[in-house]
Amino acid sequence: MSEKPTIAAKQPIEVTLTAGNEIWFCTCGKSATQPFCDGAHKGSDFSPMGYTPESSGPAWLCQCKQTQTPPFCDGSHNAL
Ligand code: FES
Repeated sequence: MSEKPTIAAKQPIEVTLTAGNEIWFCTCGKSATQPFCDGAHKGSDFSPMGYTPESSGPAWLCQCKQTQTPPFCDGSHNAL
């Protein structure tokens, strides 16, 4: 992958995940519905990442798109 993702925000966003309900995590950073895909990646090298939570509850998902543990924030935004 040669294109760099857009930094949607330099902090994570809290969402409520539901066990077994797949989400589509935005990896390009261009989605207007962060942290989820809205189709804005079309025409780029990016595609959304499917993730199915094993448990329900709150989670902090990455918006800077630099995390090494997508879809979760790993603190990488602190270096931006
Ligand atoms: S928001 Fe991307 S690592 Fe924290």
